[in-house]
Amino acid sequence: MTASEAKEQQGRIDTTRLQDIARAYTQTAVLYSAIDVELFSHIDKGADTEVALSDATGLRPVDIDRLVTCCLSMDLLRWADQSSGRLENAPDVDRYLVKGKKTYAGPWMTFTRNSVPDWFRMTELMREGKPTLLGMYEDITPESARKYHESTSSIGFGAARRFVRSVDLSGRRHLLDLGGGSGAYSITAVKTFDGLEATVLDLPPVVEATKDYIAQHDVVDKVTTHGADFTQGEFPSPCDVVVMASNLPIYDAEVIASVVARAFRALEPGGEMHLIGEILDDDRRAPVDAAMWGMNELICGSLGRAHSRAECKGYFEAAGFVDAEVSEFIPGTLARCFGRKPA
Ligand SMILES: C[S@@+](CC[C@H](N)C(=O)[O-])C[C@H]1O[C@@H](n2cnc3c(N)ncnc32)[C@H](O)[C@@H]1O
Repeated sequence: MTASEAKEQQGRIDTTRLQDIARAYTQTAVLYSAIDVELFSHIDKGADTEVALSDATGLRPVDIDRLVTCCLSMDLLRWADQSSGRLENAPDVDRYLVKGKKTYAGPWMTFTRNSVPDWFRMTELMREGKPTLLGMYEDITPESARKYHESTSSIGFGAARRFVRSVDLSGRRHLLDLGGGSGAYSITAVKTFDGLEATVLDLPPVVEATKDYIAQHDVVDKVTTHGADFTQGEFPSPCDVVVMASNLPIYDAEVIASVVARAFRALEPGGEMHLIGEILDDDRRAPVDAAMWGMNELICGSLGRAHSRAECKGYFEAAGFVDAEVSEFIPGTLARCFGRKPA
């Protein structure tokens, strides 16, 4: 039962939920600003009172008071000791929003910042937009891909580490990484499983950025790139694992079904495919994040939308995969659809 359904059952209907939604953008803005002024990083370094934060950031005390109050109310900050005014970061803030930590994900948290004005033009875009198949990827250049993957890699390598912890690819020989971007999944997988090689397939300008990550991680002998548009043509073969991560909502059902069918053809008998993405529950009531990534495609100018678990399983079964199933990958955010090609 949702919180609003619980209130309804108690006969309590009021405006609070609607007011929260109406001003949800204020929370986004506060988070962006706290990241801009490195509030959480300063606290981590010991500037953990409002006076110290004012000195460290150069902001007026009144603005630090406002920012800290908002962050306390959003549970981004907590009191380490209220009597002495000492603050501390919430555990997720400590892990992901302190600059300099290996787990720092600030670039990912602000990944969609440039599109904020367009989110507030949504009605206009729905009425007058002219979507294309590739949306924002139509005009991508090696330079914009490098910037883009600075953000995705700040979260993608963590997701890839989770992938290799949850999926055993021992004995597999070749992984095909569709829309692999920074190559996070391929790089992490070849470092984890002996004898595994990988091909990152992404748009031709994007693989220029992929090559940087492959070199940085010293896996040039194990990971290659293939510049192509995965909406068309057959895939490099043979491979015994296909991964497609975090690009599901960019496309509609027809394209995704076709990608899954071509992946099936490229796989050796007994091979496996993993489709990881923001996947909706079958009643489409959650997660909100999956719904919003679908709407993000309006903003990005494509025809993509959010897909449900049953739809993803359906794409796999229609392609010929067996044992198709969807499981939680990162609860509340990402799910993983799996299928095996019969031996
Ligand atoms: C959000 S990123 C995910 C990157 C990577 N899979 C990860 O999880 O870190 C989406 C990727 O899909 C790629 N992509 C989108 N449409 C594509 C297409 N039609 N053909 C090839 N790659 C595509 C983009 O260029 C981008 O690198």
